[in-house]
Amino acid sequence: MFERPRGTNDWGPEDMVKRRFVESRFVQLAESFGFREVATPTIESLELFTAKSGPGIVRELYAFKDQGGRDLALRPEFTASILRFYVSDLRSRPKPLKVYTTGNVFRYEEPQKGRYREFYQLNAEIIGGAPLPSDAETLALAIGTMRAIGLKRVKARIGNLGILRASLPFGSTDQAVVLHSLDKRNFAMLDSELARLGRKDLSKSLRQFIDLSGDVTILDRASKVLGGAGKEAFDYLRNLADLLESYGVSPTEYAFDMGVVRGLDYYTGMVFEIDSPNLGAEKQVGGGGAYDLAQVFGGEPVTQTGFALGLDRLVMSAEAEGSAPSPPPLDAYVVPIGDSMRPKAIEVLASLRADGLKADIDLVGRGPTKNLEYANAIRARFAILVGQRELVAGKATVRNMASGEQREVSLETLVEALREKPPKSASR
Ligand code: HAM
Repeated sequence: MFERPRGTNDWGPEDMVKRRFVESRFVQLAESFGFREVATPTIESLELFTAKSGPGIVRELYAFKDQGGRDLALRPEFTASILRFYVSDLRSRPKPLKVYTTGNVFRYEEPQKGRYREFYQLNAEIIGGAPLPSDAETLALAIGTMRAIGLKRVKARIGNLGILRASLPFGSTDQAVVLHSLDKRNFAMLDSELARLGRKDLSKSLRQFIDLSGDVTILDRASKVLGGAGKEAFDYLRNLADLLESYGVSPTEYAFDMGVVRGLDYYTGMVFEIDSPNLGAEKQVGGGGAYDLAQVFGGEPVTQTGFALGLDRLVMSAEAEGSAPSPPPLDAYVVPIGDSMRPKAIEVLASLRADGLKADIDLVGRGPTKNLEYANAIRARFAILVGQRELVAGKATVRNMASGEQREVSLETLVEALREKPPKSASR
């Protein structure tokens, strides 16, 4: 017996129906917003991830040397890969460039419920739009995806990292350490870092600032806490609220939260996270914001904003809110009555499949009783019994598996008979 690696998952048929449902809702909505799909490799050069975050990031990655001695890593997210792709190949395309991608990503984390080492992200990026409309479009897609999945209890929290960055008069490495301690709410670390930087006086206002959350009215209070710094960034958030209203995003679907700091190092402006309250400790189903990576990778300055949703957590959330679908039933299970009927039964099967029905056939050579038991166990809506006597009259016997009702149906009208709306009890 082999065990799967720690922090990974196997997904059965019932899981996959839910996962594909969530993914397809995102894809449909992203396409309707004019985003186009791209794909990047699962393995990247390690340097792509250390370029911005420094060598410290390596312990959070699946990093390895290949047989040619190259330093590689499994992608921990999509943003760096997409920006690499943008700088090398896509930058001459008309802007804004709006792309999305979905797939598995890998992080060397301590696994727990909802936190895995291999997980699945739904990711969208806008490159080269004006900041405000692009941020609004990004948020509208992220929040709209929640709605499309049927999640009603999730809420986005929107902040602006530009405000915090502007109030931290340090170089980028020191800023990153202070922001990291704020992100983790590690105030002992915050105080010791500020002491090291000779700015212990900032501690109180920073703590007060990241505690502020609520509707648009908190923005006035927040601007006072930092002594009026970052006026433009607060106006930016007010304007964002107006645009979100035009998108039809309700103020109940988000709050402003000055404590959104984000774990990744590349964010520069508007940042957001989406929480699902019914998930416990790992409740963050998505996050994103405006960032700068193109220049780090050798490109021209260009605005960049985007987000990723964690599919694994979205599915858990949909299960908790009752919006995750069950597998659709098989429409027809075809039973040849005796081996001599198999060729004709396969023809019937093929015609049902060609008409777009989900149809299966006995592959074991069981007798009719055992076959009906099997049809029941796999939750087929109908069993089609193909026997010599009925076939002579151009018919087959159709058994409604929920009611047990059985009737002879002409092969010509078989598809219509199966397309009848299934009785409630059959759509378990
Ligand atoms: P992130 O916040 O690191 O952002 O990840 C996005 C989402 O992935 C999280 O909100 C969470 O739902 C899910 N996630 C993260 N870690 C795990 C894990 N270990 N197990 C299960 N799910 C997890 C990014 O990755 C950025 N690249 C988002 C972005 C795109 N920003 C701009 N563009």
